[in-house]
Amino acid sequence: MAAPLAFLTEALRDAAARLGAPEDFEAARFVQRNRGGGERGDVQVNAAFALAKTLRRNPAEIAAELAGAIDAGPLFAPGEVSGKAFVNFRLRDEWLVERLAADVALTPAAEPERVVVDFSSPNVAKEMHVGHLRSTIIGDSVCRHFEARGHSVDRVSHVGDWGTQFGMLIRHLDDVADPSTLSIADLDALYKEAKRRFDADEAFRDEARQRVVDLQAGEPRARELWELLCEGSRAEFHELYDQLGVDVREVGESFYQPLLAGVVADLEEQGLVEVSDGAKVVFVEGFTTREGTPLPLIVQKADGGYNYASTDLAAIRHRVEQGFDRIVYVVDHGQSQHFEMVYAVARRAGWLPDDVEAVHVPFGLVLGEDGKRLRTRSGDSVALRSLLDEAEERGRALAHEHGAPEDVGSHLGLSAIRYAELSHNRMTNYVFSFDKMVSLEGNTAPYMLYAYARIRGIVDKARGADEVAGAGGERPLDDSERALAKVLADFEDVVDRATAEYQPSDVSEYLFAVSQEFNRFYERSRVVSEGRVDPLRLRLCEATAGALRTGLDLLGVRVLERI
Ligand code: ARG
Repeated sequence: MAAPLAFLTEALRDAAARLGAPEDFEAARFVQRNRGGGERGDVQVNAAFALAKTLRRNPAEIAAELAGAIDAGPLFAPGEVSGKAFVNFRLRDEWLVERLAADVALTPAAEPERVVVDFSSPNVAKEMHVGHLRSTIIGDSVCRHFEARGHSVDRVSHVGDWGTQFGMLIRHLDDVADPSTLSIADLDALYKEAKRRFDADEAFRDEARQRVVDLQAGEPRARELWELLCEGSRAEFHELYDQLGVDVREVGESFYQPLLAGVVADLEEQGLVEVSDGAKVVFVEGFTTREGTPLPLIVQKADGGYNYASTDLAAIRHRVEQGFDRIVYVVDHGQSQHFEMVYAVARRAGWLPDDVEAVHVPFGLVLGEDGKRLRTRSGDSVALRSLLDEAEERGRALAHEHGAPEDVGSHLGLSAIRYAELSHNRMTNYVFSFDKMVSLEGNTAPYMLYAYARIRGIVDKARGADEVAGAGGERPLDDSERALAKVLADFEDVVDRATAEYQPSDVSEYLFAVSQEFNRFYERSRVVSEGRVDPLRLRLCEATAGALRTGLDLLGVRVLERI
């Protein structure tokens, strides 16, 4: 179903073209929602000034012509010029009412894309840290936004399962009597111990380097130990994914191993490679160090080994060859430069054509209550498992307090952690606070889930009432009804923008606004009075519940019909 902004943007584009606007006229920039409504209408078009400038005409005249030329369709009353050159549009009550539906169906994309979303992407033999939690939750929600429109999404975790660190791990495991009995919880400790030996002991270092060579050559024992490490980590990662309800498949860095030599050879053939301190590098225009000297992307190290960048180049090339239209990386903002350089080299090499979009979706840090990067008291990064367990614990306590069952509590807690992540603009650093995220006040999962269940309760009760007065509810809307209907009509516009900007928090903010508008409406309006149901108000309740359910689903939060 068309949403007001998208509809009017299209209509403006057509009208402007008829007035002689150039092809690159950006209609979307000139169509604005008017929260207050009133005299300025519900949506305002302020394109007349810009058009007047390009067409060398008078803005007021253009505005008058636009008002006549923009097809307001069934959504709006005809446009009215106000001020110097604004054109205001008021939504028709009939349309607002007609589109109220218990099920919010998102319009399927006209041209479904094949999208790969590279997210989560933890590293083998290391504990997933909160940065990976952010990537996992944001990434999953980004996938859901695309899936909801009918795009085909490949959910991929680019697991760090290759590289020189495996030499040291394998060398260390050579000394462990029976590595297969190692528990997963030991992996992180194992990594630290291997690293300690690597840093302290020269002979160990040399042997570790040899073990990398062994691994690459497929020596059976090295290979076996490597697989053990990968398997153990994978099991651990998947327990967390299950707990969080996230679906993702692993395509580790090792997968691209056989393609790396070809990547570098091709770059050399194209004359893009230079040798710097023995390493093979590509200089990318526009990238410099802090001191202003040109900054290269290293594609093969001096010792002949490949690195993170060569692997990402191979991955991008492979993904384009697989026919993906869009490649999305949900990775912390510290890696922005890495991705920009990888894209630039891939474009230069002809592996990333102009019609394939490569997007880095960065995010900020998770902070502790002290305002510093979230750490345990001993200064280690916090284990995700302990965070999820505590979230469940907190949720159960909340449920207990309100007489709800235990499983509801776990759901509240895990939803809380997820929702807390998605209710912040992803670029801001946010403070991780259990107290805040399980609070029933403010924009939290428990608040939203209770709000939904409460509205469902209202709907159920109303449906059980004796009499439903009238069938369709065709009558003018009062102010609070209209305000709620209007906010509900924005759903698809909001989802569109959130998808285009990879910003799930836009949806969260919107859902919070919807529930607040609902509260205002419900304070003023009786849905059932003296056994008679007001059908229009019942529809408003149902539509609100539908918007909350569909919106929360985009955030990966499953609603509960009753709490
Ligand atoms: N494993 C990396 C890390 O933990 C993230 C990988 C992101 N994806 C990629 N294609 N580089 O930082």
